[in-house]
Amino acid sequence: MRGSLLPGMAQPPRTLCHLSDIPDGAARGFPGPPGSFIGLFAVRRGKQVFVYVNSCPHIGTSLNLMPDRFLSADGALIVCVTHGAEFRIEDGYCLRGPCSGDRLEAVPVRIEDGTVLIPADAGL
Ligand code: FES
Repeated sequence: MRGSLLPGMAQPPRTLCHLSDIPDGAARGFPGPPGSFIGLFAVRRGKQVFVYVNSCPHIGTSLNLMPDRFLSADGALIVCVTHGAEFRIEDGYCLRGPCSGDRLEAVPVRIEDGTVLIPADAGL
């Protein structure tokens, strides 16, 4: 049922986008919720979407400089443009770089009828 709460969340979810708005294998950036200075980004793998807060665990900068540029050239990893940290897409774990062993802040995702839903306060 669209609009029902995500587990552990007190507010109705936010509609991030439609699944088809993210090309398969690609990433897309999104603004944070109202009142937030930090954005979000999403990576699509088939029918799965992984969403993270756009803040590198190294020093907190955005991972990208160019719109929607979050992935390595082969699309296999998330890359921070500032110092080159590389993160697994599936869980945000940093494999290499100055924050090796840290993780991106993951955002819970639910997909209903092709609509990507996240907690309304994700990124605050
Ligand atoms: S800010 Fe991301 S690797 Fe340094």
